[in-house]
Amino acid sequence: MVPVEEPQRGALPAGIEVGNEAEAARAVHDMFARVAPRYDLLNHLLSGQIDRFWRRKLVRAVRPYLQRDAVSIADCCCGTGDLALALARERARLRPDKVPACLASDFCRPMLVRAADKFERAGLPRILAEADATRMPLPDSSVDLVTIAFGFRNLANYRVGAEEFCRLLAPGGCLAVLEFSQPTFKLWGALFNFYFQHVLPRLGNAISGSGGAYSYLQDSVQRFPSPEQVRKLLIGAGFKRVEIRPLSGGVSVLYLAYV
Ligand SMILES: C[S@@+](CC[C@H](N)C(=O)[O-])C[C@H]1O[C@@H](n2cnc3c(N)ncnc32)[C@H](O)[C@@H]1O
Repeated sequence: MVPVEEPQRGALPAGIEVGNEAEAARAVHDMFARVAPRYDLLNHLLSGQIDRFWRRKLVRAVRPYLQRDAVSIADCCCGTGDLALALARERARLRPDKVPACLASDFCRPMLVRAADKFERAGLPRILAEADATRMPLPDSSVDLVTIAFGFRNLANYRVGAEEFCRLLAPGGCLAVLEFSQPTFKLWGALFNFYFQHVLPRLGNAISGSGGAYSYLQDSVQRFPSPEQVRKLLIGAGFKRVEIRPLSGGVSVLYLAYV
């Protein structure tokens, strides 16, 4: 783990100079465009389906919002839409009297196209936006619940992203972030690191055919700030309170930040 201030202010794909945020974002965009056709397969395969369990944890944690008479939800960095869909389904289950609307946004069109197909097949309303999560085309204080699963780590500037989510949220609103982390238990951490450093990049790069995307995944998780550093970052961006909930021994962390 590295301090959040220096020099890791955001994602840094291989070959990009520190501080060149526009190029970092472009490299991330192009990488996801390349892996989009196999993203779901690899996600579930390489995580042993545990990614579904983590998304369910997030959905459960934000139920108080999903039960409201009126709630405006934005899932940023939605990728192929699994979290946005899970949120819409839970809203439909809890409040069958309401339209289960959830904005799903991502800056990578090939990912969004897959999300659109899934919403269509599920018979749920599709509200999609091709947008950069650090510059969302939404007014201030217009959203009650912002979610982001495994996308925050990919932002070119974490602080700018956190400030943007804070800007979007209405008073009482919540940001729910799911992100990888480093397990705290030594043995579990060693096993996890072995898998992440040696198995996952080889398998992921080979199956995705993307030449490097899954090495980036491993590298980005290692460079990502620790949960306490993320808490500081969110508080610094304007959130009043941050809850940290480690999942699966700390492999993943659910952050709930309130404005
Ligand atoms: C690892 S995927 C996660 C997708 C999905 N949330 C999930 O849980 O499977 C990260 C996604 O973030 C998107 N992304 C990365 N940086 C972004 C940015 N600045 N603005 C919008 N989307 C971004 C990528 O295009 C990709 O679809």
